[in-house]
Amino acid sequence: MYALEAQHVRKTYGGVTALADAGLRVRPGSVHALLGENGAGKSTLVKIITGAVRPDAGVLRLEGSDVSFSDTADAARHGVAVVSQELSLFPDLDVLSNLFPMREPRRGPFVDRRRMAARARPILDQLGLHVSLREQVGSLSLAQRQLLEVAKALITEPRVLILDEPTSALDAKTAEVLLDILRVLRDRQVAVVFVSHILEEVMQLCDEITVLRDGRTVLDAAPRSGLTIPGIVEAMLGERHAELSEHRLHATVDLSGTVAPGRGAPVRLEAVSFEERLAEVSLTAAPGEVVGLAGVAGAGHQTVLELVAGLRQPTSGRVLLPDGRPAPRGLRAAIGRGVALVTGDRRRLGLMLDKPIWENAAQVRTVALARDGLRIRKRVLRERAGEHARRLNLRTSSLEKSAGLLSGGNQQKVVLAKWLQTEPTVLLLDDPTRGVDIGAKAEMHGLVRSVADAGAVVLLCSTDLDELVSLCDRVLVLHHGRLAAELSGGSLRQHDILAAMNTGAVPAA
Ligand SMILES: Nc1ncnc2c1ncn2[C@@H]1O[C@H](COP(=O)(O)OP(=O)(O)OP(=O)(O)O)[C@@H](O)[C@H]1O
Ligand SMILES: [Mg+2]
Repeated sequence: MYALEAQHVRKTYGGVTALADAGLRVRPGSVHALLGENGAGKSTLVKIITGAVRPDAGVLRLEGSDVSFSDTADAARHGVAVVSQELSLFPDLDVLSNLFPMREPRRGPFVDRRRMAARARPILDQLGLHVSLREQVGSLSLAQRQLLEVAKALITEPRVLILDEPTSALDAKTAEVLLDILRVLRDRQVAVVFVSHILEEVMQLCDEITVLRDGRTVLDAAPRSGLTIPGIVEAMLGERHAELSEHRLHATVDLSGTVAPGRGAPVRLEAVSFEERLAEVSLTAAPGEVVGLAGVAGAGHQTVLELVAGLRQPTSGRVLLPDGRPAPRGLRAAIGRGVALVTGDRRRLGLMLDKPIWENAAQVRTVALARDGLRIRKRVLRERAGEHARRLNLRTSSLEKSAGLLSGGNQQKVVLAKWLQTEPTVLLLDDPTRGVDIGAKAEMHGLVRSVADAGAVVLLCSTDLDELVSLCDRVLVLHHGRLAAELSGGSLRQHDILAAMNTGAVPAA
């Protein structure tokens, strides 16, 4: 008997078919991958199973009995817990209150915080999440919030646990901790559904694989042992598969007219320290170069990006932009000086979710043009947005839709499109392809490369080692706030980046 079974699920939004005929069958004691391109319908299926969205048609069974949940709390009471793709925590509440939404243990009329803490602590420890239970969630990093979301699901002791891209914000080491926990749950006969775009991870972890394409199940609970990554990609893309291979060969995109060539000096850090986080770091990144910054969480690589973006001021030392002057105070001033910052944390610095897609894509460009005293017609902005949307294979029926209605990966494409249009002289990328599918990722890498070729300095932080190796000319590894290693050419290998991240040194050959 299946722990969870969904059959012939259909859902349309207005004229858009999110799910045409989707099914999912998950055995107890297994980890089941749910895969598909951005916009294929994965999150919609997850939301329907967990009662967050009502289907137009379809059957749902839990351990053989027909069910239908009124909301996610109802699903949780029946043993089905979800870690959703766009995090659902309350930023103004503390860690502990977030872990028990609406079902705090009570002692008489009072919430029993002692009992809550006793239940929460071991789960947070297991996840390696060392935060105070009283800390406000809004001040946690994206990775910490992601883990907290997992803890919140684990506290309900589910029999079915569904995770929608839980590792996309985590570095490799932290992701491994989470994957180990899922293995333990599998041994305890929990049915785990795992949505991810990181296929290596899927191959390591999962027992069975279901693939959705355009809202249909095209691969149904296939045993992993009989599959290869290229085979899975082919199932995900269908006819577009040939097109993708073609793209790969010509991954550089012509951006003439979109990026100002204006070659400046390098971005330069001169003996820069910042609080306890960065100690006398000196580096240069020249126009035309893509320089990677790697490190475990808190190693200082993200602080470097924040300093160049003007979000933080050095405690000592100097940060110089290509115009030869020190980085300004504040992101807005930095943007005015040609800096663009793309982050995977799209809720924070990314999108206006209730505004049309085209307006989001055009937003910064409008600011940049206004800066040059130019006015530009709406129609032109719309056309340009459309051009980028096509290039990045944005899956939407119309650019007039609110950006918040796009699937997660498609939202990320809009964030990147918007910043690429600002004609940056410095492009700062912090996990820019988080949650983006394999096809669009190749396209985005091509776009980033063209921005560098046009004369911009590109600095990239990424939790994705493969991205660092394939996109960067050089990777600088930070360890406890110091530059620990510089890798390039033949010595730029995933294994060495990882070793330097964790030990502060590259192993002798
Ligand atoms: N509330 C909504 N209103 C309109 N369209 C929607 C809504 N929710 C989802 N869609 C559309 O349904 C389709 C499927 O979206 P879904 O979020 O399920 O994709 P996904 O497979 O999870 O993609 P990703 O990998 O990017 O997260 C997309 O075309 C999306 O734009
Ligand atoms: Mg999704």
